[in-house]
Amino acid sequence: MKTLVVFYSRTGHTRSVAQRLASRLNADLEELKERADRTGVFGFLKGGRDAIQKRPAVLYPVRKNPADYDMVIIGSPIWAFTICPAVRTYLSNHASSIKRMASFCTHGGGGPSKSYTEAEKLLGKPLAATLALRDKAVKRGECDAAITAFVGTITATPA
Ligand SMILES: Cc1cc2nc3c(=O)[nH]c(=O)nc-3n(C[C@H](O)[C@H](O)[C@H](O)COP(=O)(O)O)c2cc1C
Repeated sequence: MKTLVVFYSRTGHTRSVAQRLASRLNADLEELKERADRTGVFGFLKGGRDAIQKRPAVLYPVRKNPADYDMVIIGSPIWAFTICPAVRTYLSNHASSIKRMASFCTHGGGGPSKSYTEAEKLLGKPLAATLALRDKAVKRGECDAAITAFVGTITATPA
């Protein structure tokens, strides 16, 4: 199964999970990069505002074509109870090229919130698997069992 892991990460938690998933699944990795500056307190505040208002992000061009893959795994930090603007924009632009999709998120304790519903709405079909990990657990390396279960669901589900 040819797999692409696409993710956005501001502070590294989502990137760490994405890298581990790519390694476990022998998948290609695509990190989404925004033109907006999300650093510091202002970056945090503007990020929250943009997520609430569902403002599209201005993304640097991506390198991989999701149409070339059997499965796309999309990873987002939870911002204001939903997916971050970079992931929202990626899904808006590429949904029609994605055959099957699974979703994972990292969060600060509030859980996946509306992220799966939003992703399914943008994709137009159900997610094959989902995974939500708390940022502190990612930092402490306490996610092995959850990652293994997620990978198991993805590899067991027929195309
Ligand atoms: C703008 C902003 C809004 C956030 N909103 C939420 C939230 O609604 N619920 C939550 O549990 N965590 C929230 N967080 C925390 C992040 O989801 C969490 O720290 C995540 O692991 C960050 O991922 P990253 O390190 O890949 O950027 C928010 C973080 C930011 C920057």
